[in-house]
Order: sequence, then structure tokens, then C-alpha cells
Amino acid sequence: MNILITAGPTREHLDPIRFLSNRSTGKMGFAVAQAAVERGHAVTLIAGPVSLPTPPGVMRIDVVSARDMLAAVQLHLPQQDALVMSAAVADWRPAQVAQAKLKKCDMAPVIHLEPNPDILKTVSSLKGSRIFVGFAAETGDPTAEAQRKLAAKGLDMIVANDVTAEGSGFAVETNRVTFITADEAPRALPLQSKLAVGHAIIDWLEK
Ligand code: PMT
Repeated sequence: MNILITAGPTREHLDPIRFLSNRSTGKMGFAVAQAAVERGHAVTLIAGPVSLPTPPGVMRIDVVSARDMLAAVQLHLPQQDALVMSAAVADWRPAQVAQAKLKKCDMAPVIHLEPNPDILKTVSSLKGSRIFVGFAAETGDPTAEAQRKLAAKGLDMIVANDVTAEGSGFAVETNRVTFITADEAPRALPLQSKLAVGHAIIDWLEK
């Protein structure tokens, strides 16, 4: 299969120095890419700003903002059989971006935001027979919210993780996830390495 994977955070700049972002390190998405290439798939990895080495054999495209990531997904999706969106995409960006560093005395205490495009919803018109897998990062039991996102984003599967649980979520080597689909009961996996989670996702894709 040709598999397109996104990983890491996006950065939404306010000026060349300052940005809005989140805690994603890219470890989860890079682990999915590593697993996919180990299993013989052709992998294109779209990465937000992270400091991880590219798994050998993976084609990597670096992006910064949500809109950059959307453009890269739109460009590469037509050649793919599956999309795995593990990136933590910023939902909002500053409404105005200064070209030069904002001086403290020129800054207002309020930042006006505007919504970023939802990448999965935007590319849903290109889905066709492709398999779309999303992730849901929640605090507390992720199942109900993940089921809502599965339907709202037109996904075949969503990988739900409680990012406040010990050993799960952001910046750790392990994750405890639940696979949620429209027609099967949620499947909770044990706490395991992100690479093992990646292999479980590839198992599901291959079926
Ligand atoms: O990178 P790590 O440090 O290893 O951390 C891993 C992780 C916690 C980031 C990962 O396991 C994870 O949960 N990734 C998804 C984070 C997220 O953005 O979840 P969400 O519930 O906000 O979004 C739901 C889905 O919509 C995701 O597939 C997301 O990529 C996608 N999305 C979100 C916003 C947006 N504007 N466009 C999107 O397509």
C-alpha cells in the first residue's frame, strides 16, 4: 500500500519569533511510519516541527502550519491508498501575523484568532476508496468524543487516546489506545510502545 501519515504539532505564528502550538513531539506518527515501512509499505510522512530522525525508507515532507499541512496532504493524497492523521493540528491561528518581531510596547494583551481548516474534513471529498484513520486526543475517557469525531470527519477508524493517562499521549514512548470503528465494538489495546501501536494500526489497515 501507499500510506500517507501526518505527525507532530503545527505552529501558528504571531510574528517570526512567537507561535501557538501544542505538546506533540511526533513520536506517535513517526512510530506508525516506522511500522509501515517495516511491513513493506511505501510511506510518505508529513511532519510538523519536530526533532526526530526520519525512519529509513520513509519519504518525509516538513511543514510548519496547519495550512501548510493541508496543502501537503492535498498534494500527496491522490497517490495514496490510506491516510493516517496522527498530527496534532492547531484548530486556531492568530488572525494577524506580523512580518517583524512585535515589540512588547506594541502588543495588545488579547490575541485575535481565526479557525484553521479541518484537514480531514477538507480532504473528505478526495476519499474515494481510500482508508482514512484519525486520532482523537482527549482528557479522560476518550470513547464518546472519539465516536463523534469518527462520524463528523468521515473516518473508517479513529485511534482514541487519553492524553492524561500514565504512559499515554504526548511526548512518551508508549501509548494506550482504543480502536473505534462505526460497525464494531471499541477495541481497547494494552499500554505498549508506540511502535507496537503503529504495527497494530498497520495490521488493521492490511485487513
Ligand atoms: O506526537 P506525540 O508526542 O507522540 O503525541 C501523540 C499524540 C497525542 C499527538 C497522538 O497520539 C494524537 O492523539 N494525535 C491526534 C491529536 C489531535 O489533534 O487530536 P484531535 O482530537 O484534536 O483531532 C482529531 C483528528 O482530526 C486528528 O486525526 C487530527 O489530526 C485531525 N485534525 C484536527 C484538527 C484539524 N484542524 N484538522 C484535522 O484533520
